[in-house]
Amino acid sequence: MKRLIMLSAVALLATSWMVTPAMAHGHESLGDVAKGHKIFQEGIGDDVPACAGCHGTDGMGADDMGTPRLAYQVETYIRKQLEDFASKKRMDNTMYQMNDIAGALTEEQRRDVAAYVHSLRTPFLGSDLDQLREDGEDVGTVYKGKLIVNYGIPDNGVPACKSCHAYNGRSAGNMFPAIGGQRYVYLKHELEAFRAGNTTPSSEDDASRDNDPMAIMRHVAAKLTDEDIKDAAAYLTVAKDATPGNPAAPKR
Ligand code: HEC
Ligand code: HEC
Repeated sequence: MKRLIMLSAVALLATSWMVTPAMAHGHESLGDVAKGHKIFQEGIGDDVPACAGCHGTDGMGADDMGTPRLAYQVETYIRKQLEDFASKKRMDNTMYQMNDIAGALTEEQRRDVAAYVHSLRTPFLGSDLDQLREDGEDVGTVYKGKLIVNYGIPDNGVPACKSCHAYNGRSAGNMFPAIGGQRYVYLKHELEAFRAGNTTPSSEDDASRDNDPMAIMRHVAAKLTDEDIKDAAAYLTVAKDATPGNPAAPKR
């Protein structure tokens, strides 16, 4: 019995030791917003193009280029993605440029630019689904997507997106990015990429994404049909981050 208690004390110690550095991220002052602003809007010499050229001067992304909204995204998540692009753990399979761009930034510059995009609080109304439909994009059904986000698809083993990404996909903690208010085209593309992901490392011509910790998103996306993906993306892009009656969303 004594031995058991000792063992669990050791286990407890080990977990707290493992958890602390990750938790501390949220409280660290991470990057220099002013320096990040300059990188984002102007780029760096010939090596790094201005992020604004593809992600928009307001950081809101663009459906015609398939680029994501970066504005107000979770800072540690942005940093992780830039690190993963730099190390080729995640491959950009939309415009094939993020790996070179992230690789040309120093670790400090990645922190600075992450701090800057996180500081952009412009309200976002979501992709214009009617316009996308007119442009020939295959757009899903908002109310069906709402059910998936809130309840999952229990019959097919799909968990509620909300259980990790929080209310309307507004993000939770350092690990779970905001997916509500994200661009439709980008959401759809990422869900397809996670679904195509397997557990072997990415390759340059691979249309998959497999940099999610413990294959969490690959397991979720594996159970989604084409229709489910379009429906979830349609709801998420227009999903508001505050509850009705309480216009203030919690701080990310
Ligand atoms: C040539 C266009 C282009 C430029 C310039 C560009 N990006 Fe991107 N970026 C993209 C595309 C396309 C994606 C989506 C990649 C994918 O499909 O995986 C992306 C994805 C990202 C992501 C992942 C976001 C997420 O939600 O996971 C981050 C972070 C990012 N870019 C940051 C930057 C920063 C910082 C810069 C400037 C230093 C920059 N990008 C410059 C096109 C661009
Ligand atoms: C068990 C937890 C969990 C559940 C449930 C979950 N996700 Fe995720 N999701 C994650 C994590 C963790 C990441 C970040 C992956 C990374 O760090 O690269 C993520 C990333 C994503 C991304 C990429 C965001 C970006 O900016 O590139 C999308 C899109 C997404 N999830 C959609 C969904 C949808 C839709 C559902 C519901 C059908 C869902 N997720 C359910 C954990 C979860």
